[in-house]
Amino acid sequence: MKETLSLIPTFEPIPLPAPVWLLQVLFFVTFVLHIILMDMTLGGLVLLSYGEISKRMSEPLRRWIVGYLPVTTAFTMTTGIAPLLFLQVLYGQLFFPAAILIAWAWFLVIIALLLGYYGIYAYASNGLVRWRSWVIIGSTILFLYVAFAFNNAITLMVTPFRWWEIWQERPPGVHFNLNIWEQTLFPRFLHFFLGAIAVAGLISALYGAIAMRSRPDEGKQILGAGVSWFIGATLVNYLGGILFLFTHEKQIWQAFVGGNFLATILLWGAVVLSVLAIAFAWLSRRAEQPMPLVLAATVSIALTIVGMSGARFILRSLLIARHAPNFDLSKIPVQPQWGIILLFIVLFLAGIGVVVWMLMQLKRAQVTSAA
Ligand code: HEM
Repeated sequence: MKETLSLIPTFEPIPLPAPVWLLQVLFFVTFVLHIILMDMTLGGLVLLSYGEISKRMSEPLRRWIVGYLPVTTAFTMTTGIAPLLFLQVLYGQLFFPAAILIAWAWFLVIIALLLGYYGIYAYASNGLVRWRSWVIIGSTILFLYVAFAFNNAITLMVTPFRWWEIWQERPPGVHFNLNIWEQTLFPRFLHFFLGAIAVAGLISALYGAIAMRSRPDEGKQILGAGVSWFIGATLVNYLGGILFLFTHEKQIWQAFVGGNFLATILLWGAVVLSVLAIAFAWLSRRAEQPMPLVLAATVSIALTIVGMSGARFILRSLLIARHAPNFDLSKIPVQPQWGIILLFIVLFLAGIGVVVWMLMQLKRAQVTSAA
């Protein structure tokens, strides 16, 4: 333990520009935004790849996903930047060593993002007749890699006892490390992977319900397919979630089954909401007017994501308290710069306003070009 503690760098002498609680709130809000868009992007890619391989995807569903992917990919990346900044400001002493240790695996994220994004555009442009399937499968694999690299960095930052071991494991100069000895790594990846498929399915179902108003057959097809993906992935994810929880040490998982009130409420409250979402989505398939039911399922799942993200933030605190007890956020010097904070919040809200306006313009342009 002594050696581990000495590996964690000391706090930056520069004080934090805002109180820790405010930075945590902003970190949380921006992370939830990122993860919803990431789910649509990664889940949409998995669905498209499945469609290309099986040749069994309905064309309207394929067109809808291809239509939104370039937009959500851009938003996934931009909404990732804000939580990355908060992560570095709050947990830099843990995060930077982890990112440095996995080195090339971390650096490759940028290359994977660039190539993956390019592949999505190439696929959406309809130009690559022969290579289309391979291009989108390639982009899917690259983005799955990005998610996996994040899982590695996030798990390694809270297990500093492994840093020295990993540093020594490879000959100097190679430094392509993964945190594969971490037993929660693959369950964590599986949990995010299935969650992404479920969200992409449900958002497609919502689009299907909207489309039913003008194109009943097509809308119904998209709704049915979206609901099936959502329910199928969520049911399997109950197993994924259990695996993820119980591969943690006993002291940690116990917090989520009664040991810590907030952790327990957030996790199991989110699970109950996801069950409600399944019920709403299931009923929507046979309903004359599926819109209210699909909307209820979407709201339930949005709240599920908020609850699960809260549980994930508590998980990080518990792991840090256990494996890096000397790392104490309350000891970091704080010197609030309220002007800058206000500017951030104003620009953040203005940014969201601009995005909503852009989406409305995009919708209007699509309606005009279809007419
Ligand atoms: C489009 C590709 C991307 C995918 C598939 C993706 C996927 C993920 C996943 C699965 C996680 C959860 C990791 C975990 O908890 O183990 C995550 C977290 C995160 N992502 Fe992304 N991501 C993408 C792009 C980005 C980009 C471009 C950035 C930043 C510029 C970013 C910033 C973050 C941050 C900071 C976290 C962790 C937040 C925290 O620890 O609370 N992501 N991402």
